[in-house]
Amino acid sequence: MFGTDIGIDLGTASVLVYVKGQGIVLKEPSVVAIEKNSKEILAVGEDARRMLGRTPGNIVAIRPLREGVISDYDITEKMLKYFIMKSVGHHLFRKPRIAVCVPSSVTEVERRAVEDATKQAGAREVFVIEEPIAAAIGAGIDISRAMGSMVVDIGGGTTDVAVISLGGTVVSTSLKVAGDNFDEAIVRYMRKKHNILIGERTAEDLKINIGTAFRRPPINMDVRGRNLVTGLPKTINVTSDEMFEALQESVTSIVDSVHFILEKTPPELASDISDRGILMTGGGSLLYGLDMLIKDKTGIEAFIAEDSISCVAIGTGKYIEFESTGKMKGKRRK
Ligand SMILES: Nc1ncnc2c1ncn2[C@@H]1O[C@H](COP(=O)(O)OP(=O)(O)OP(=O)(O)O)[C@@H](O)[C@H]1O
Ligand SMILES: [Mg+2]
Repeated sequence: MFGTDIGIDLGTASVLVYVKGQGIVLKEPSVVAIEKNSKEILAVGEDARRMLGRTPGNIVAIRPLREGVISDYDITEKMLKYFIMKSVGHHLFRKPRIAVCVPSSVTEVERRAVEDATKQAGAREVFVIEEPIAAAIGAGIDISRAMGSMVVDIGGGTTDVAVISLGGTVVSTSLKVAGDNFDEAIVRYMRKKHNILIGERTAEDLKINIGTAFRRPPINMDVRGRNLVTGLPKTINVTSDEMFEALQESVTSIVDSVHFILEKTPPELASDISDRGILMTGGGSLLYGLDMLIKDKTGIEAFIAEDSISCVAIGTGKYIEFESTGKMKGKRRK
């Protein structure tokens, strides 16, 4: 096999690897389990997550990425190396070329850290691209045209809002309100309103099953938590109306950012966007009613990309194909 091309979505919640010609070959949580004293790596990805909460004191599970950027460089590099090996095997004649994405607002230092970690993890050549651009390519938008597109990518750690034209970002912002923050808001709400403590996994279940950003015909769900007064387990019934209330603040800040970026968008591009609609990607965009809320508050149609969770990974992989046909002036670095 000659010159394999790989795209990696190095996310806060999960890492996805796309191999040219094969599609998405790996999707695992961004978690690494290490031995505390020796710093030896014991497990990576799914295996490491299974160890979470079930380990003796000398083993810790680490999330090496926080809010979309690297917080532990060494662990990130080792995790990447493991995922690359797992995806393409040990038998390559040549090291792969790798495209990897970063949130649109990262600093030069943070960008360089991602680039170096990818190189150290075994890339022959590294392309660092912005997440909203990858998301747009992954959703099938021809980003090389002189035409404005707006992408709202809501992940676990960050939401990126960007206007793209001619293969580049014209205006963008990134906020640290996304899926994880929705879960935290639900945990806080349950404690305040019902005096009950629920875990983040339960909060995520509530969000996925009955969460909503827009008024909906009420549905409900039973959840179990710990009664903070008696200290005992308790089951209560929660309604979607309550979830609407719990998520208000978080979803409002996302809509406000969309508004803010629309205001800063040059008029021609803004008119393209109102013709073509707003593209939503990332796992967080699946929250019920978020598309309707954006439409309601901006007057512009919002639609969720097909396969919204894999969009960024697919786009990152396809980016290399564009790059090699010379269609785009990417930020190419050796
Ligand atoms: N059906 C659903 N409804 C609501 N939220 C969902 C749904 N499915 C997944 N999510 C949420 O999507 C988030 C993960 O999204 P994604 O995989 O796009 O994040 P990421 O790319 O790892 O993060 P980031 O881009 O911030 O680094 C999680 O918070 C998860 O709870
Ligand atoms: Mg992401």
